Order: sequence, then C-alpha cells, then structure tokens
Amino acid sequence: MTNIVILTGAGISAESGISTFRDEGGLWANHRIEDVATPEGFERDPKLVVDFYNERRAQAATSAPNPAHDALARLEAEHKGDLLLVTQNVDDLHERGGSNHVLHMHGALNSALCASCEHRWPAPMKMAVGDACPNCAAPMARPDIVWFGEMPYQMDRIERALAQADLFVAIGTSGNVYPAAGFVQMAAHYGAHTIELNLEPSAVVSQFAETRFGKAGETVPAWVAEVLEI
Ligand code: OAD
Repeated sequence: MTNIVILTGAGISAESGISTFRDEGGLWANHRIEDVATPEGFERDPKLVVDFYNERRAQAATSAPNPAHDALARLEAEHKGDLLLVTQNVDDLHERGGSNHVLHMHGALNSALCASCEHRWPAPMKMAVGDACPNCAAPMARPDIVWFGEMPYQMDRIERALAQADLFVAIGTSGNVYPAAGFVQMAAHYGAHTIELNLEPSAVVSQFAETRFGKAGETVPAWVAEVLEI
C-alpha cells in the first residue's frame, strides 16, 4: 500500500475561475502582498484586508470544483493506503468536490479567527472590521488566513506524513512560497517518489523525479486513474 502526500496550490482552482497569485493578471499583479497578506498590512488598514478576503470569499462561492478536485476526492475514497491532502488554497473547492480530509495549511476563507483568544468560527460571507468574537466578545475578528510572517498550520503533522510518504505529488503550485516549496526536498530525502503536475515548470521543478505539464483538469484525473489502475 502506498502512502501518498499531495500538495495543491492555486493552479488546481484556476479552471474553476479562481485567480492564481503569480500568473499574468494574478492577484499579486493587482494587490501588494505587504498590504493585504501580512499582519502589518492588517494593522495599517484592516478594512482593505477584510474587503480583499470578502472578495475572495464571494469569488469562491460562485465557483465550482473542476475535474481535478473531483479526481482527488475519488482518490481519497478509493485509495487503499494513507493519503494526506494538503492545500495552500483558502477556497473550499476540495471539500465541495468531495474530499473529506483536507489540511488547509494557509487557512480558509470560510473561517474567522479571533486575534485575541484564537477562537475560530464559520466566517460570514461579509466580514467587517471589529466583528465581535462569539467566544470572548473582543471586537477582534480577522480572516483565518496565514499571512506572510505567520506560521502555516499543522506543520508537525505534514512533516510526519512527508517522512512516511512513498509518493509526493505537487499540483498547480509555483514553488515560490516556503515551507510548502520545500516539501518536495523533504519527501525525496525520506525516499518518496516525487511528481510535479503543473501548467509550467515551478521554481523547484529540478527537485522532482517526474514532471507532467498541462492543465490540472486533465493531468490530475489521468494521474489518479493510473494510481487506482482504472
Ligand atoms: P501561484 O499563483 O504562485 O502559482 C500557481 C501555479 O499554478 C503556477 O505554477 C501556474 O503555472 C500553475 N497553473 C496555472 N493554471 C493552471 C492550471 N489550469 N492547471 C495547473 N496548473 C496551473 O500559486 P501558489 O503556488 O498556490 O499564500 O501560491 C502559494 C501561496 O502564495 C499561496 O497560498 C498564497 C500566495 O501568496 C498566502 O497568501 C499565504
């Protein structure tokens, strides 16, 4: 039985109509990272940041999972070994595609976080600056997103899975943001076979044993069919 760890990035949701970050016309072409994706940006102009994620949440809500999300849900249901699906994406298209166990290492649009007591609750479609925490009542709600300079979620669990993995597959991620970009090296170090499925070679492509280029909506279902031998 094969232990599989999958890392997904914005590219897997591109065909669902959700903007990536670094492609032409991507989010980081129109927004400065330091303004909308750092704790300092939130301190300076919380409304700009809350509105930015309100827009992302609205965009995700009107998007639907694509065949790549569906294929990974099928893999989760039918694969006999262990499978950990780690996503850098903050949308919920994996869940809506049918995946039941998704680790959102960069947080989630549908979650709100209290900056005071760290309580989490389902985010309303439109968050507002100063929303009260339902647990401690502090007016300190923030989007439950891991910003630059903050620690991604559940790194211990991810590293344990990488150390046990027979197969590590990265899908639709540009390999620019660490620690996720370093997962391939860690998995290979522990002996896993590594595959990159991406539209174009990522910044860490040379570290993968195998690469397949094309749209996720095509490459992912084909790869899943191979793994499940169907
Ligand atoms: P990027 O926007 O950096 O990269 C998207 C990748 O998807 C690129 O390598 C594209 O070639 C590829 N791609 C585009 N369309 C595709 C398609 N149809 N099929 C397959 N691949 C396609 O997004 P990420 O690597 O996910 O973090 O970005 C990583 C992190 O940087 C994000 O989680 C976010 C961002 O700053 C935070 O905000 C904390």
